[in-house]
Amino acid sequence: MEARFLERALELAEHGRGTTHPNPVVGAVAVVGDEIVGEGWHERKGGPHAEVVALEAAGERARGATLYVSMEPCAHHGTTPPCTEAVLRAGVAKVVAGSLDPNPEARGGLELLRAAGVEVEDADSFAARAQNEAWRTWVSLGRPFVVLKLAQTLDGRVAVPGTDGWISGPDSRRRVHELRAQVDAVAVGMGTARADDPQLTARDVGATRQPRRLVFGSGPSDLEVRSGALEEELRALAGEGVQSLLLEGGPKLATSFLREGLVDKLMLFVAPEIAGAGLTFAPELDDLVRLSHMTAEPVGDDVLLTAWVHEPSCTVRVATRASSSSRGAPSRATPTISIGISATSEATNSRSRSESSSAACRSSSTSMSGCFALSPRSSRPTCRWGCSNGCATWANSWGAS
Ligand SMILES: NC(=O)c1ccc[n+]([C@@H]2O[C@H](COP(=O)([O-])OP(=O)(O)OC[C@H]3O[C@@H](n4cnc5c(N)ncnc54)[C@H](OP(=O)(O)O)[C@@H]3O)[C@@H](O)[C@H]2O)c1
Repeated sequence: MEARFLERALELAEHGRGTTHPNPVVGAVAVVGDEIVGEGWHERKGGPHAEVVALEAAGERARGATLYVSMEPCAHHGTTPPCTEAVLRAGVAKVVAGSLDPNPEARGGLELLRAAGVEVEDADSFAARAQNEAWRTWVSLGRPFVVLKLAQTLDGRVAVPGTDGWISGPDSRRRVHELRAQVDAVAVGMGTARADDPQLTARDVGATRQPRRLVFGSGPSDLEVRSGALEEELRALAGEGVQSLLLEGGPKLATSFLREGLVDKLMLFVAPEIAGAGLTFAPELDDLVRLSHMTAEPVGDDVLLTAWVHEPSCTVRVATRASSSSRGAPSRATPTISIGISATSEATNSRSRSESSSAACRSSSTSMSGCFALSPRSSRPTCRWGCSNGCATWANSWGAS
């Protein structure tokens, strides 16, 4: 596998950002030797998938080519025929997938191709999984991907008595408006609604659509009030097509989301201030929450820390070549709580430290059924294979393609 071709596929996928909804963004590159002979990306639901576009662009040169695709080719009839059929028809020799497809309806493409004699490689790139993090969570866990965003001082205060309420600087606040423009819904707790009366709209960033604006709690509000249990509300929102939720605090609600294992990613704007007093970010959290892939980015005078509580969902690995015992019809996905593809792990890639925990998810030779187990210290679900992320795929009815 050549990383630059996979990177190109990821880059192409981004052309579909904003138009493919509710589908994921996907890019593909057909390569012969060192030369790219066809490129494509998925543009909108119902339109051709990235692989089909790339293979059509390659024409006859696709025969014997290597196809790099940011997510494995789909194996089902959705609004378009299975991409696996197009790959086989084109005579592609090898397929390299940046990530597996967590959609219970469409997954299994690599396995099917391998069984048909095509060489396959699951590169399991974190970047490829992160590219569709919201969709992956929505389609596999049946709830929106939740990003907890907060602003705090250097000493961890999210509200400082006697100030005008702003902690982060103007550049950070602009970034928040950009984030709002990218998500399906934005939410706060009733405490923040009462204290700050936030609009939660995406302003001055050329937003093409506004997110749904929610408040968790009870009482009158101009925002959409969600008063049920958090998990139920998230499930209901997912059913209404909400794939991503930006949670903008405050600390009580943030603590509840963290305690219930419902935060997937944290974005923390840290301002160069020491307050000495005021509310802290998660005051009553009784259990350690581990995050991974943390990055720090200067935003004006602030620093934005980004890290994942739950990595974008991982799945089981597939072997790279067809074996005589596994030829024929591939095992198809079982309908509930299980990935259903038995994993014959061939870990060929060297992985970064942060990727190694999720690799454990895929190295089991069993199906992923029951991957989640209860941690002894809390009711927060953790993965029994050792990773702290949402690697169990829970079959649901919102698969899109
Ligand atoms: N720096 C930042 O990034 C930031 C962000 C947001 C807020 N803040 C500050 O935080 C302060 C407000 O903090 P807060 O902790 O009181 O507000 P909060 O977390 O926004 O709201 C807490 C309220 O949310 C409702 N709620 C509904 N479901 C809940 C659940 N499962 N768990 C917990 N609460 C739930 C409850 O209201 P009901 O009683 O109506 O049920 C609860 O009292 C304000 O000063 C605000 O400026 C700072």
